[in-house]
Amino acid sequence: MKLADIKREWWKEAIVYQIYPRSFQDSNGDGIGDLRGIINRLDYIASLGVQVVWLNPIYSSPNDDNGYDISDYRNIMAEFGTMEDFEELLAGFHARGIKVVMDLVVNHTSDEHEWFKQSRSSRDNPYRDYYHWWPAEKGTPPRRWSYFDEEANAWRYDEQTDAYYLHYFARKQPDLNWENPKLRAEIYDMMHYWFKNGIDGFRMDVITFISKHEDWPDFGDENQGSKMIDRYAEGPRLHEYLHEMNREVLQHYDIMTVAEGPGTHTHNVLDLVDEDRQELNMNYHFDHNNIGVGERFIMNDDFQNLVKFKQVMSEWDEALSQKGWNTVYFGNHDFPRMVTRWGNDAPPWREASSKLLTTYLLSMRGTPYYYMGDELGMNNIKFDNIEDYRDLMTINWYHLTKAEGGDLDKFMASHKICARDNARTPVQWDSTAHGGFTTGTPWIKVNPNFTNINAAVQEDDANSPLNFFRRMASLRSDNLTLIYGAYELLLAEDENLYVFSRSLDDEKLLVVLNFSCDEQNLHVGNVKDVLINNYSDLMLSEGYLTLQGWQALILKLA
Ligand code: GLC
Ligand code: CA
Repeated sequence: MKLADIKREWWKEAIVYQIYPRSFQDSNGDGIGDLRGIINRLDYIASLGVQVVWLNPIYSSPNDDNGYDISDYRNIMAEFGTMEDFEELLAGFHARGIKVVMDLVVNHTSDEHEWFKQSRSSRDNPYRDYYHWWPAEKGTPPRRWSYFDEEANAWRYDEQTDAYYLHYFARKQPDLNWENPKLRAEIYDMMHYWFKNGIDGFRMDVITFISKHEDWPDFGDENQGSKMIDRYAEGPRLHEYLHEMNREVLQHYDIMTVAEGPGTHTHNVLDLVDEDRQELNMNYHFDHNNIGVGERFIMNDDFQNLVKFKQVMSEWDEALSQKGWNTVYFGNHDFPRMVTRWGNDAPPWREASSKLLTTYLLSMRGTPYYYMGDELGMNNIKFDNIEDYRDLMTINWYHLTKAEGGDLDKFMASHKICARDNARTPVQWDSTAHGGFTTGTPWIKVNPNFTNINAAVQEDDANSPLNFFRRMASLRSDNLTLIYGAYELLLAEDENLYVFSRSLDDEKLLVVLNFSCDEQNLHVGNVKDVLINNYSDLMLSEGYLTLQGWQALILKLA
């Protein structure tokens, strides 16, 4: 790989740091994180060495799904603050050289959005066709699966007009009808509004679902449950809409776009991100996070299968090696804490394994998306009681499982590891009450381990996960081989080691990661330099390396 052949872009060179505002920092004691809380932490965020921040939705919302149910796209959620707070926050990031990406949630709105209120009011309302309606006289609509519905049914009967509306997510999240050109124009207009306000991009929520199969086929028994996701992602007009969005809006600004891409796989991702098609810049997939996780997040033995993980990640790198651009992430607000999911969160290994995962994310080819709190090595809270959960997904699935007479112990055990709320417990800032997140009662419990896992204690410890993150972030940002270098997987079948090289022009780096608690040996040959090591010592003699449990190294080869 030659640097001269590469089209450099700021969004390829950036590290993206994701903030879930509800759980980041509360500033007024109501127990809910807010914009002023983020403003108070701007210097901390800048100290990490990241170039882009992605904010989960901060728009007006009744919070059925924590802001993914938007009632007004042009206003700030009352609990989070005001438009003035937002402007101050944006200016504060920009003053520190950090770009801001917002969430774009346009597959659905809240049922409290004015459009839906109008739409459901009568069959001949001008907003009727902003949503998908199935008149009851046509009989029962074809089966559609819903992620969050209490009965897993994506059609909800509405008495007022004797018709069903479509909702892939919760009942309070009706799906928008992209067939309607008026709706599309309103969305593009809203996007211009935010770009003119100065934001630097959008992360597009379930954007692969916006086009529906308007002939409403029955997807058959083989496509029920979460298998329907792939069907939802192949709506016939998806690429037509995204190309239109690009022409109408995106191409007019120096911004970045990333699809949240359920249903994207290596065989279809280029349809979204091949630059010649003029749709989106990047996409993130679910293939690695789906390893070992079945229906309703019930885990199986493959959960930490490293060989499968390496295969998935390497295939994705390959798929985007000539065109488009990859993304890499472990955690976000929809997945468990990375150290619990992919590392080992037991006390002897938690720090080493979270540093290893940080090393991995920041040494792969593709833009890294790094989730708040992972830089502290925060782990899953693992609730014992269903009453502790706040996420409608877990709560509704629990009740469904119960109603079916399913195995609730198994459900609870799996959700200790897989539930989304594990990532949504508040950031642990210091050892004061509630980890310094709030002076009031937090909206969701703080992990009680905040007394020893928190930013304040790590600030003063040169070897903390936090300071390791900073070192690794600056290493990546300063090293074009780590950003653009070709990726090659070695030892594909090894069950404990993930070893790969990155090469650009004359430089060759070897990333060596021991994904196990046991010592591992490896021949690496002539080492010129050690760029990073998550341990203070290194056992290397005559080209032979002995790695300690969860040791991570980046070596420069001669
Ligand atoms: C995306 C979001 C998730 C949300 C869902 C519905 O998957 O990341 O948090 O619940 O879309 O908007
Ligand atoms: Ca607050």
